[in-house]
Amino acid sequence: MSPTILVTGGTGFIGSHTTVALQEAGYRVVILDNLCNSKPDVLDRIAQITGIKPGFVEGDVRDARTLERLFETQSISATMHFAGLKAVGESTQQPLRYYDNNVNGSVHLLQAMDQAGIKTFVFSSSATVYGNPQILPLAEDHPRSATNPYGHSKLMVEDILEDVYRATTGWRIARLRYFNPVGAHPSGLIGESPQGVPNNLMPYIAQVAAGRHPRLKVFGNDYDTPDGTGVRDYIHVSDLAQGHLAALKYCEQAGQELLTVNLGTGRGYSVMDMIHAFEHASRKAIAYDIVARRPGDIGACWADTRLAAEKLGWRADKGIAEMCEDAWRWENGICKKRARR
Ligand code: NAD
Ligand code: WQD
Repeated sequence: MSPTILVTGGTGFIGSHTTVALQEAGYRVVILDNLCNSKPDVLDRIAQITGIKPGFVEGDVRDARTLERLFETQSISATMHFAGLKAVGESTQQPLRYYDNNVNGSVHLLQAMDQAGIKTFVFSSSATVYGNPQILPLAEDHPRSATNPYGHSKLMVEDILEDVYRATTGWRIARLRYFNPVGAHPSGLIGESPQGVPNNLMPYIAQVAAGRHPRLKVFGNDYDTPDGTGVRDYIHVSDLAQGHLAALKYCEQAGQELLTVNLGTGRGYSVMDMIHAFEHASRKAIAYDIVARRPGDIGACWADTRLAAEKLGWRADKGIAEMCEDAWRWENGICKKRARR
């Protein structure tokens, strides 16, 4: 029987795309998700794409009994840990909730894995751990810092993983630092579903194109970038999913390993670049206003991708045109669903 991968947060944005990639590569998947930021209909959509409905347990990664039962009853060989809260602004208002969910949740999961003797772990870290970039592109040895509880929670879990790796033999751990994941599955069946008004650029632009918001606010045009607007390394979520698969395979072949790699494209695009690319993909005009900088934002950030290429043999290959086309197909699908209600 093929190995089973526990995917926590697997009904969410990145976890659902990675579940598709895992199933397409022949792995069995069991998802553990408390549905605090996703819906169970994603499971049927994954089945529509891959022909296989993943296993699903509705539950919380902080619930020791649920974890114990999962590891006892399923032949799990590795965990991919996506479950977490991710809104930077909200984390400054509710730090304890973020530390409990993201840090405590990871500790509980690692304890349960340790007890069950399962020692392969792939963690969703973030480029947020680089803080304000001192040198671009951002390489994995760039100093780390955090300016908000969300970022701190990622730093803490990275450190906990290092301690766990050093304390006990046999752990195979990948800490994957994502840049800016965007886009959706090309089928239009799964994508990002932010609750309320989106914080991130791409879903906000998509909702303006769909007429759900009148205008986009562009947060500052006085950065030291070619057009003055913020520059980021946007990565298609399907490329990101393939990066996870490559990291899992790498860990599976290692005796023991603590791998830390960037998952980005190595290219930066400005807010204006993204607006223009989305206008092209959607054939809709995106109305916008230039407003003040968003507190805590950095000017520019993009990844040094060499380590991922060297270690994992993985490289992102989808450009911003495809990211925007796929995000638009997904957004259009949501609009049609709403219209039918
Ligand atoms: P998401 O919110 O779409 O998915 C997270 C999933 O985890 C959701 O389905 C949610 O219901 C579930 N969840 C949250 N807390 C849980 C808990 N305690 N127990 C069980 N399930 C729980 O987010 P995403 O964009 O797919 O992000 C996945 C991971 O990647 C997160 O850890 C996030 O911090 C990290 N990350 C995301 C980005 C990004 O921009 N999307 C960038 C870097 C890192
Ligand atoms: C991108 C650019 C904004 C919205 C965040 C988290 C980070 C990571 C990814 C999890 C910036 C500008 C945005 C808008 C705008 N998540 N913008 N108008 O800030 O790079 O990263 O998500 O780990 O931790 O901080 O992404 O999409 O919010 O912003 O002008 O309405 O778009 O100023 O230049 P960010 P983003």
